[in-house]
Amino acid sequence: MSNLNIAIFGSSGAIGRSLCLEYAKSKNTNKIFAFSRDNVTSNDMKIINRQVNYLDENSLKQATEILNVKLDLIIIATGALKNPEKSIKDLSIEKFMKMFEANTLPTALISKYFLPILYKDRITKFTALSARVGSIEDNHLGGWYSYRASKTALNMVLKNLSIEQQRINPNSIVFGLHPGTVNSPLSKPFQRKNMEYFSPEFSAEKLKEVISLKTIKDNGKIFAWDNSEIKP
Ligand SMILES: NC(=O)c1ccc[n+]([C@@H]2O[C@H](COP(=O)([O-])OP(=O)(O)OC[C@H]3O[C@@H](n4cnc5c(N)ncnc54)[C@H](OP(=O)(O)O)[C@@H]3O)[C@@H](O)[C@H]2O)c1
Repeated sequence: MSNLNIAIFGSSGAIGRSLCLEYAKSKNTNKIFAFSRDNVTSNDMKIINRQVNYLDENSLKQATEILNVKLDLIIIATGALKNPEKSIKDLSIEKFMKMFEANTLPTALISKYFLPILYKDRITKFTALSARVGSIEDNHLGGWYSYRASKTALNMVLKNLSIEQQRINPNSIVFGLHPGTVNSPLSKPFQRKNMEYFSPEFSAEKLKEVISLKTIKDNGKIFAWDNSEIKP
């Protein structure tokens, strides 16, 4: 794939920003539309920053209208992890809704407006950063009810999109990604002294490799930073 037009959401985040810079380095990249809720700036000529509200459908619709190009690749790197529950006793409606608003709804709403602007006559890719803890099969520790559930729901949204896209744009591949355990504002409050963390730059480099390897047979699946598949 060359001369790629790419949209990256969550460009103020540690991994989102690193993904923008990683793709900007590539000679195969034409333009990167870097979306954020914040007013982010960038020095790289290939990166075009745009502000958007992921939970406002008008804002998303306008964002597609002003792009005026077709896209090859969409990456959603938004998400949050706040006050995770150790026990069901810690759960609150507010906390649960907030995790779904941060981790599930943005991808669902972005897909509604951005999937139609993917090219149809060539292979395109749509991916969102999920998390290994969203896997039901991989859950051996419990806890983190709302974050886990919001990522499991995200995985279901991605699976649904992969099925719908197969019908309306068979050249598009939809999949989820786990970035590894990465040093970022999101993970900082939960980091342990004896654990090693990837830098956001390393994770972005690995994710770019994984994205480049995806083919139609990977539609609807979830992959980790090392290209191993994560069962739902
Ligand atoms: N760090 C890890 O170890 C790790 C592990 C597994 C999975 N992940 C996943 O990787 C993704 C990126 O995480 P990160 O480590 O780069 O975290 P980060 O540095 O905190 O960046 C997350 C970005 O998501 C957006 N965001 C934050 N709160 C949001 C909300 N309430 N609603 C919508 N968007 C919100 C913000 O970007 P904008 O305002 O620019 O949109 C923020 O900069 C997340 O989905 C996370 O769950 C991370």
